[in-house]
Amino acid sequence: MIRFLVNFLEALLNTFYRQRLHPRFFVLETIARVPYFAYTSVLHLYETMGWWRKSDWLKVHFSESWNELHHLLISESLGGNRYAIDRFVAHTGAFVYYWIIVGVYLITPRSAYRFMQFVEEHAYHTYDAFLREHGEELKKLPAPDVAVNYYRDGDLYMFEEFQITNPSEFRRPKIENLYDVFVAVRDDELEHVKTMIACQQPNIQETFHSPHMANRAALPESIRAEIDAQTSSIIKEAEKEPVQIN
Ligand SMILES: [Fe+2]
Ligand SMILES: [Fe+2]
Repeated sequence: MIRFLVNFLEALLNTFYRQRLHPRFFVLETIARVPYFAYTSVLHLYETMGWWRKSDWLKVHFSESWNELHHLLISESLGGNRYAIDRFVAHTGAFVYYWIIVGVYLITPRSAYRFMQFVEEHAYHTYDAFLREHGEELKKLPAPDVAVNYYRDGDLYMFEEFQITNPSEFRRPKIENLYDVFVAVRDDELEHVKTMIACQQPNIQETFHSPHMANRAALPESIRAEIDAQTSSIIKEAEKEPVQIN
């Protein structure tokens, strides 16, 4: 079921958006943002009903959705949402995926996190391939204002909030042109993969915290080792066999 949902999304993008990269990013970012909204909806419900309170999870998932919102705004600033058909595909897909992920998260949160890990891996590979194929042209284009403000000149609290593995190692992207922006976006996707891996670990309820919590330590060594092992194989795979996006 999880694999089917991811494969369906990948097939949709590969079939209809092979030649149209910015609409592809718009559709991907619209749909890929929805699971974080689904997680916070369910966590909010648990908290409202008095069943379970874990405000750190709400904070981190909201900051992930805020990060994806900025990917979406960057894509929109580059014309990704220009055509009604692309907006229709993205919005319909987001609506359907929202309700499916709410259902999956209510029954098995680990599967819902696994789903998002696969989606984020796909996003990482997509942006990595885009950078390899279009790097030189991107270096000649300016960074959109929304990206400069989010990654560099504005308040970076929300950008730091989803980087949960080690609060002493927050990323500080250099943003001078459009290439730098897509490097930051690609690296965000890998950061999300890391968070999704962490959320699936057996004892994560005790160790998962907002990176801005006072005296917050890094995640335990065993969880960081698991994250490192999985993410380094994703990076190696991208280097060995870059996906074809156009
Ligand atoms: Fe994204
Ligand atoms: Fe993402």
